[in-house]
Amino acid sequence: MKQTTDFLKMKKENEKVVMLTAYDYPSAKHAEQAGVDVILVGDSLGMVVLGYDSTIPVTMDDMIHHTKAVRRGAQDTFVVVDMPFMSYHLSVRDTLINGAKLIQETGANAVKVEGADDVIDHIKALTKSGIPVVAHLGLTPQSVGVLGGYKVQGKSASAARKLMEDAKKCEEAGAFLLVLECVPKQLAKEVSNALSIPTIGIGAGVDADGQVLVYHDLLTYGVERVPKFVKQYTNLNIEAEQAIKSYVSEVKKGTFPEDSHSFTMKEEELQGLYG
Ligand code: KIV
Ligand code: NA
Repeated sequence: MKQTTDFLKMKKENEKVVMLTAYDYPSAKHAEQAGVDVILVGDSLGMVVLGYDSTIPVTMDDMIHHTKAVRRGAQDTFVVVDMPFMSYHLSVRDTLINGAKLIQETGANAVKVEGADDVIDHIKALTKSGIPVVAHLGLTPQSVGVLGGYKVQGKSASAARKLMEDAKKCEEAGAFLLVLECVPKQLAKEVSNALSIPTIGIGAGVDADGQVLVYHDLLTYGVERVPKFVKQYTNLNIEAEQAIKSYVSEVKKGTFPEDSHSFTMKEEELQGLYG
C-alpha cells in the first residue's frame, strides 16, 4: 500500500500518478488488479451509480456504505473518499467529526474536499488531526449551482491567477494531492510546476502530474453521454445489452438452460418421487 509521501516521491521522479474512481466491490477489484495508484470513491457515485443528476444529494451514509465495499475489494490500494456536500462547511469541529467517521468506519486512507477560500482552514485542521487531505480545484461539482453549470474554469487571466493562488494555499494547508478538474491545459501545467505536491488532472491536459477518470466513463458503463475530457476505452453498454438480449431470447426459446447448466438425480430415485 502506498503512503502519502510516496506520491511526492513519484512527482520528483516524474512518475505519473494514476487515479480511478470505484464505488463497490467489483469496481475496486478491477482498479486494484489493473494497478491504479489511488482509488477515489468519488461522490460522482450520486450520478453514475445512484442516478441523481448532480453530486448534491449524496450523503455521509452513501459515502460510507460504498467506501466499505471498495475497501473490501481493494485491500492493498490507497483509497481516497470524497467528503460529500456540506459535510466540511459548517464548523471545523463538524468537519473533523465527519472526516474521522469517513476514515474510521471505512478504512479509507484519505479524504477529498472541494474548493479553497473558507475550506482552507478545514484542510489544515483535518491534516493536523492526522487525516490526509486531497484538495480539488477548478470545476468543483458540489458548487455547480453557484458556478452556473459544468464549465471549464480559469480561462481568464484573473481566474487563472485566483486558481494558482488557491492551489498554493491548498498545498500550504497540508493537502498532499490536488485534483484539477476542467482547467485549460496550459494553466494546469503552470500550477503543476509551481507546486511540490502532485496535481491530478481530469480535463486538465497531459502535463498534470497524474490523471483521474470516472470508472463508468472509461468503460462506458451505464453512462450515455460523456464529457469531452473522457476517453472511452471500451463500451460495456453494448456488451451488456447484447448479453442480456441473448439471455432473454434463449429463455423465451427454451434453449437456455442446457444440460451443462442443469443438475440430475438417479432415475430410481425419481421413480420414488410419489412413494
Ligand atoms: O467524484 C468524483 O468522481 C471526482 C473526480 C471526478 C475527481 O471528484
Ligand atoms: Na467528487
